[in-house]
Amino acid sequence: MLRRLHPEQPESFAFTAANQQWAEAQITKYPEGRQASAVIPLLWRAQEQEGWLSRPAIESVADMLGMAYIRVLEVASFYFMFQLQPVGTVAHIQVCGTTSCMICGAEDLIAVCKEKIAAKPHVLSADGKLSWEEVECLGSCTNAPMAQIGKDYYEDLTAESFGKILDDLVAGKVPTPGPQNGRYAAEPLKGLTSLTEYDSGKTRYNASVELATDIGDTVKRIDGTEVPILTPWLGKDGRAAATKAAPKPPKAPAPAKPAVKQAAEAKAAKEDQPETLTGARDGKADNLKLLKGVGPKLEQTLNELGFFHFDQIAAWTPEQVAWVDARLKFKGRIERDGWIEQAAKLAAGEETEFAKRAKEDGT
Ligand code: FES
Repeated sequence: MLRRLHPEQPESFAFTAANQQWAEAQITKYPEGRQASAVIPLLWRAQEQEGWLSRPAIESVADMLGMAYIRVLEVASFYFMFQLQPVGTVAHIQVCGTTSCMICGAEDLIAVCKEKIAAKPHVLSADGKLSWEEVECLGSCTNAPMAQIGKDYYEDLTAESFGKILDDLVAGKVPTPGPQNGRYAAEPLKGLTSLTEYDSGKTRYNASVELATDIGDTVKRIDGTEVPILTPWLGKDGRAAATKAAPKPPKAPAPAKPAVKQAAEAKAAKEDQPETLTGARDGKADNLKLLKGVGPKLEQTLNELGFFHFDQIAAWTPEQVAWVDARLKFKGRIERDGWIEQAAKLAAGEETEFAKRAKEDGT
């Protein structure tokens, strides 16, 4: 199957504030220069938020990680778990069509999808609420045939029970996941033949279904407020991180500064501002995307601030770096990616590893 960007794309993408905070925390898991390692978690969170990955979402993740757009598109288009086209507003149904499920009736389930959702996979139902696809073995073969809906497995399905689940979803209900034929888990259909003493210790559902039912976000879009943001690698517990995200009480107004102090601060701020240009010298700007960490959006921001040339960037003092950093959406990038060192080399006509690769990629 060809996996490419959908012809209809939204204008823009933005993480919710909570998801943005979560994404920024994920990036801090990786050492300097290795932020691209966060690409899959960030893409996944974007998909959890929107249901699918649009071009603006892919570009937004690329900008956050300082990656070329094509590199992030490569990841998104390689893994089938990423949906590159809109999915049902209520749920995307993934029917397992591999051997065990096929032998046990997967084709009947696919027929239900064709009848109730759309004749072809990855096409929205008439009301836009559902979409479906056939997937490879989901590892629940003892409970074949089965389907994954949202985050959970619905097992031991028949065309009838599966059809009812789809009807319930459209009606706004979230059916209980797990075996649909009365089985507790994956025990023999006729009942336990060993470890029978555990039979009496059963909870209402097996552990997976119990947890899925407790969490209750099977088909919910994730806006980031569902669970505390855990950042143990930053030495904080989840509660501390969650508290940090809570809105701060309004601050008492700061006492007015004496006029002399204000003037001194304004002077200092001006001195910190690096020299900027109103346009590129001779109308020929350097390709700032050859700096690792600068994508097309950041290059545009830098140009808007008045930076067009490597030598301008190479000349920034630490105070000026702070001035520029305060005006960028994603802070700390200048130092983290070593823009000054890279810019100095490129301004002197030398090459950097990244610039060499970027040129080969046609950046
Ligand atoms: S064959 Fe369907 S879950 Fe394994």
